[in-house]
Parts: sequence; structure tokens; C-alpha cells
Amino acid sequence: MNNFTYYNPTKIYFGKDTIKNIGRELREHGIRKVLLVCGRQSIFSTGVYDRVSASLVGWHVDFVRFSGVQSNPVLSKVQEGIQLGRKEEVDAVLAVGGGSVFDSAKVIAAGVKHEGDVWDLFTGQAKIEDALPIFGVLTLSATGSEMNGNAVITKAEENKKWGIGSRHLYPRVSIIDPEFQAYLSARDTVNGAVDIMSHVFELYFDGSKNVELMQEYSEAIIRTVMKNVKILLTNPSDYEARAQIAWAATLALNNSNGTGRRGGDWAAHDIEHSVSAFYNVAHGAGLAVVTPAWMRYVYKEDPKTFARFAEKIFGITTGPQEEKTLQAIEQLINFFREIGAPVTLKELGVKYEDLEKMAGNAVQQRPLGKLKKLQKEDVLAIYKMAYE
Ligand code: NZQ
Ligand code: ZN
Repeated sequence: MNNFTYYNPTKIYFGKDTIKNIGRELREHGIRKVLLVCGRQSIFSTGVYDRVSASLVGWHVDFVRFSGVQSNPVLSKVQEGIQLGRKEEVDAVLAVGGGSVFDSAKVIAAGVKHEGDVWDLFTGQAKIEDALPIFGVLTLSATGSEMNGNAVITKAEENKKWGIGSRHLYPRVSIIDPEFQAYLSARDTVNGAVDIMSHVFELYFDGSKNVELMQEYSEAIIRTVMKNVKILLTNPSDYEARAQIAWAATLALNNSNGTGRRGGDWAAHDIEHSVSAFYNVAHGAGLAVVTPAWMRYVYKEDPKTFARFAEKIFGITTGPQEEKTLQAIEQLINFFREIGAPVTLKELGVKYEDLEKMAGNAVQQRPLGKLKKLQKEDVLAIYKMAYE
């Protein structure tokens, strides 16, 4: 096991009827006025907005609404939010929504405190030195953004979907009431499940040694998600299944799953982000396509862990390591198909002639891969494997 420092300052409220705590928490943190960041429509139709606003009003916290954040959130919208936050002199930012809303709220919080262009924080030209306090009410469990310091934003005009991370971007408090996720479409539910699984894969397959506890932890998350997403496809309002998936999402990417490891691989994520940047596909859908192809491309770097994955997740116990691994990857694709996720780039509407520029784009922000370092040609090969 590698040495590690584990830091996570986010307080979580989890379960039914927990949204009512948001007003009191803000008040106890000395917040008088918040920028309430939300998506396009769901929080109004699900009743989340009514619950949140009732709590804010009840605790005398003023709020300014900033709605319309879209999936694959864009920089121009974040810039608008920064302007509004400054103009209204808010003391904090409150995200109410899914990962896109949380990520936008985080970058708005950092942007209000940053003098220059907020995109400089992504390019490395400037560092996040401070941010407004961030709070959140989560309505879609997938990204782990409710309990981590990461955010992903797209600069649409340059097709750059890039991430940042900072200790200043952890929410102070996040509320997760799985009941409201009953309203998610089957597609968003499936995309979320794939994203959670992918976060685990990124950590599980980063070439770490002597991390048995974390391997068991990862496998528990994967099995739990695979089992419960199927339940939700039959019964979207099964509270217990929603709750299992919701907590799995948080644990998958709140750093606990990374302890003692090498930091995760994250190549599949960057390879996916380039697909989303060009085609605006949902992150989870892109991952369902990219991840198995990435596995096929890199499994030889760590045959033992891949064979363990075959055994522990798919019960494949006989045969040589390589055969077991290839069978497991096939079964993973079958599972994605079974739950209705796309499994080829073609299904996502990607044009073959775009693969090259997508590959170039994927390697722009940082070097890719920990288990296997990947250059542009490697990414192109993976896209080709994932094409049809
Ligand atoms: O806009 P509204 O109307 O709210 O609709 C949303 C949106 O259409 C809807 N939705 C949310 N909660 C709902 C609901 N519909 C019904 N009932 C509810 N309770 O769901 C749709 C998708 O929402 P979105 O926030 O885009 O999804 P998700 O949470 O999967 O976030 C995806 C974004 O997060 C980034 C992704 O790349 C993508 O941009 N990621 C962020 C990470 C992080 N911060 O750590 C890590 C991830 O790997 C990921 O890259
Ligand atoms: Zn992800």
C-alpha cells in the first residue's frame, strides 16, 4: 500500500427528508445570501426546488436563482454565473441538481474570487487560491461531485472538456435524498450507473500493488451498482435500490476508494471527455463505449488484476488469465447492452473521420494513463476499437 493523506471536509446528510437541513446549515455557516445554481427543469417538476426554497426562507437565507445549467456544462454559462454572483454579492454558492450543476457551482465559486479569466484555472496559468463556500443538494448520483474537489467544464468553442481539482472546491455540506432520483429517466439512471462503475475501474486498474482492502471495496461498489441498476430499470422508484446506488456513487469518487493507490488511471475519462466535447453525448454513455475498448488495449499491463476482476465480478474462475479477462470484457459489454447503454461510437453518432481530431484533442490537457501511458496514436487505436 502506498502512503497517503486522506482529506475530505464535506459533511453529508443522506436519506429521506434531509433537504430541510440546508437552510439551517447555511445559517450556521454564517451565510446570509446564496447563489442558487440549478439545471433546466427537473428541480421544479420534482418538488426539490420547493423543499430547498422553503428551508432557505424558513432560516432567513436570501437567494438569487441562476438556472439553466446544461449537461456537459459550458464555460460561458459559468462566466454568467460569476458575474451574477459578484453583482449580487452572495456569500456562498448552493448547487441544486446533478453533477453538471455541482461542477458549474464550484467553478462559479472559484471564479468569483479569481481576478482574471476563470479558464486560466483550467489551463494551469493560474491556481485556485480561494473560492466562495460551496453547498449542495444532489438530485442525480453519478459523479461524486457532491463529496470531492473536482469540476469538469467545456469550453465549447475550442471543444475542450477539461477538469480541475482543488481543496477549495469541496462542498462544505451536501445533501443526498435518493427519493427524488425516482424521477430520473432510465437513460440518466443508466448513465449514472456506468459513470460510477467507471470511477471504480479508473482506480482499480491503475497498476497499484498491495491494495487488497481497496480491491474488495471497489468490487463491492461495482457489484452493488450492477445489481441495483437492474432493479431500477424495472422499478424506478425503489427507494432502497436508489439509496444503494447513491451512496455507491459518493464512495466511488470521494477519495476513500483511492487511498493507498497510485492516484487512478483516468485515461478512459479523458478519452470520453473528448467524445462529449465534440458530440455533446452524456458522460456515462461515452464511458460505456470507451471503457471496454480501453480495457482491451491495456489489460496486458496488469494481467493479474484483470483476471481478478473477471473472477470477482463475473465469476469466471477457469482458464488462463488472458482468456478470463477477454471473457470478462465481453460480459461487461453485454451488461452495458442489457441495461440499454450504447456500446459503440457509431451508436453515439460519431463520424469515423472525426476520430483523429478527437484523439488529438483528448491528449491536450495532460499526459494520459497511469497503467499504460497513452499518446495520440494509442487513443486513436482505442477509438477505432470502440467504433462499431
Ligand atoms: O437540467 P435538469 O432539468 O435538472 O435535468 C437533468 C439533466 O438533464 C436531469 N436530472 C437531474 N436530476 C434529476 C434529473 N431528472 C429527473 N429527476 C432528477 N432528480 O439529469 C440530466 C443529467 O444531469 P447532469 O448533471 O448532466 O448529469 P451527471 O450528474 O451525470 O453529471 C455529468 C457531468 O459531470 C461531469 C461529467 O463529465 C458531466 O459533465 N463529471 C464530473 C465529475 C466530478 N466533478 O468529479 C467526475 C465525473 O467523472 C464527470 O466527468
Ligand atoms: Zn465520470
